[in-house]
Amino acid sequence: MSVRRTVLLTGASGVVGQAVLREARSGAVRIIALCRGTSAAVPEGADAVVHGDISQDRFGLDEESHAALAREVDTVIHSAGLTEWGLPADRYLPVNVEGTRQAADFARRAGASVHFMSTAFVAALAVNAPHRLGAGNVTANYVRSKLRAEQLLRDSGVPHTVFRPTNLIGDSLTGWTSRGQIVQLMSDWICRGRAPFIPVHEGNRIDVVPQDLLAKAVLGAVQLGDDQGEFWVTYGERAMDMTAALEVCAKHAANLGRALAPPPVVDPDGIDPDRLRELPPLAQSYLTVLRDVSETTRCSGGVLPTSLPELSERHGLAPVADTDAYRRTLEYASTHLGQSRSPERTAA
Ligand SMILES: NC(=O)c1ccc[n+]([C@@H]2O[C@H](COP(=O)([O-])OP(=O)(O)OC[C@H]3O[C@@H](n4cnc5c(N)ncnc54)[C@H](OP(=O)(O)O)[C@@H]3O)[C@@H](O)[C@H]2O)c1
Repeated sequence: MSVRRTVLLTGASGVVGQAVLREARSGAVRIIALCRGTSAAVPEGADAVVHGDISQDRFGLDEESHAALAREVDTVIHSAGLTEWGLPADRYLPVNVEGTRQAADFARRAGASVHFMSTAFVAALAVNAPHRLGAGNVTANYVRSKLRAEQLLRDSGVPHTVFRPTNLIGDSLTGWTSRGQIVQLMSDWICRGRAPFIPVHEGNRIDVVPQDLLAKAVLGAVQLGDDQGEFWVTYGERAMDMTAALEVCAKHAANLGRALAPPPVVDPDGIDPDRLRELPPLAQSYLTVLRDVSETTRCSGGVLPTSLPELSERHGLAPVADTDAYRRTLEYASTHLGQSRSPERTAA
């Protein structure tokens, strides 16, 4: 009989944290949510809440509370992070790097293992990456901070796994998400026929993964007591290409009574800066982010590495086509989400 583990979940209020809590409702693991703020309310799906700031020594807890928490916890899911793109490098250090140090220190004290939420975009910084990621790329500082956090965990000697998800979309069956992220925002813009063109490098896959797949894999790893391994939560070779993604958008638009002529896919390196400057500010911003994300994927070889077959087998993940999950994500977003956030906010 497996032991019921007690998990400290950092980033419980985030998209990944909420997906984990939703999948944990069966009660197979006991979850203590680490949240900022002071609300005494226990997040749905969690068993208890602790208030703390990941970037502070002992999460900002007093010595006794930190020690007591460490006595209770045997596993850490470390999902707290600064996920906004386009910030200066030093903005990511307190949360993404120092926060990971705090999570590792806590785990050492608790004798716990850590499951760390990194990003598939670290593939773009591999020593053998086919292209060099430009310093001005909107994702670069964020991705470097996640790579540093991975290294810090390796150096810590704390038993851990690293999960590297690509951009997440909604639940694979319902499209549900606790809030919209970049894929929903950009897709809405495209489906409204506002994209004059789409900058994607030839050969790039559009790799997006339903958030419940990540949550199920992480909770599966917790229950099995996994404490090592690096897992790319991506579709890899099986990810859709831009043509397939735009077909999903066109069908979705048609279901909403709109005729969408799929915009042309262009080489991001050939975009005329003058033409870009003439576009409305929102279009400039979205196209710049799309161009940079395409560069990040290109630096990863166009096709991200994947561990999905292995994760599916180990954790019994039901197969789902990314195009079906993407369609459900668009359906959910068009009925449930407002589309008011800036495109840089959140992240693979
Ligand atoms: N979502 C994706 O598409 C995606 C893809 C690849 C990798 N990831 C990785 O997965 C992790 C979770 O992403 P997400 O999408 O859930 O991010 P998110 O929605 O932006 O949530 C970030 C979480 O971190 C918490 N947090 C930030 N600073 C904190 C601090 N100083 N102390 C305590 N908590 C803090 C936030 O709490 P507040 O609510 O208080 O701000 C929130 O719960 C991140 O590390 C990210 O790098 C995400």
